[in-house]
Amino acid sequence: MIFANRYFPATRLRRMRRDDFSRRLMREHSLTVDDLIYPVFVLEGDNREQDVKSMPGVKRQSLDRLLYTAEEAVRLGVPMLSIFPVIESGKNNEATEAYNPDGLVPTVVRALKARFPELGLMTDVALDPYTIHGQDGLIDDAGYVLNDETTAVLVKQALCHADAGADMVGPSDMMDGRIGAIRQALEEEGFIHTKLFAYSAKYASSFYGPFRDAVGSAGNLGKADKKTYQMDPANVDEAVQEVAMDLEEGADLVMIKPGMPYLDVIRRVKDTFGVPTFAYQVSGEYAMLKAAAANGWLDGDKCMMESLLAFKRAGADGILTYFALDAARLLKA
Ligand code: PBG
Repeated sequence: MIFANRYFPATRLRRMRRDDFSRRLMREHSLTVDDLIYPVFVLEGDNREQDVKSMPGVKRQSLDRLLYTAEEAVRLGVPMLSIFPVIESGKNNEATEAYNPDGLVPTVVRALKARFPELGLMTDVALDPYTIHGQDGLIDDAGYVLNDETTAVLVKQALCHADAGADMVGPSDMMDGRIGAIRQALEEEGFIHTKLFAYSAKYASSFYGPFRDAVGSAGNLGKADKKTYQMDPANVDEAVQEVAMDLEEGADLVMIKPGMPYLDVIRRVKDTFGVPTFAYQVSGEYAMLKAAAANGWLDGDKCMMESLLAFKRAGADGILTYFALDAARLLKA
């Protein structure tokens, strides 16, 4: 008999994979619309809309147009927008426009909150859209970004956003001690409900290129980099230390950025602290997937959903992603 000594596997994992119902029962992680945060780029003025070339499907919009985008986010059930300004007038190296109460971000926040009170709004706290050199902070004569001087401006910026009605402020600047300084100031001014979303482990990544095009800081930054304040991509213990500091200083949520190339960091942070941990699937990750899909090399929708699910598997509680509306549409279908 040919099969007399045939070996039978004790476990056939394919048994549970065979049918759709059992695959569904086995499923460990899932993506829902509640996991999605949509970053938007806002322009000064009225009736303006521009495509971001390196991010197909992403637009810069003036407030009147952004209201339609916000309405769509609400309709789809996306919980929160993250607002990034394109500053065309008023840049200077003191970044004074960053805390102008009548500036672009506070104006947009007030208008969106008035129209869609239930839609969460996060603002970006960093000085790069407001400085002529495109760095996230104030610099000295040698071009070094000054920590404590920058933090003082970030505090003003965060208070200005909170005063306009921002639900969350998201410091993305990577100065030391800024979470504590902002938290203290928010408490002192009575903004006890304003949530602090710390970009805790933000790496000096090359995946931010399309974003810098979108907000128009790429030209200003030129060949300079952000390695004296953003993290070295080689490090992970240091990310744990950054998160520990931010939590101690009063962060409500922490973020790892970029996303897909840093899933190990998300897992490590989630396992170490067990706190709300978010990921930013950044502009370059979006651009890569879009480019491959446009060439017919990848199935865009399927790869988008797989990439977002991977964040959940890695331990993320939510994802900032330029795919938020597209993914929400697919989840609803
Ligand atoms: C700047 C900021 C950056 C991003 C968010 N906030 C770029 C940078 O640090 O140069 C990148 C987001 C993306 O690439 O999608 N404070």
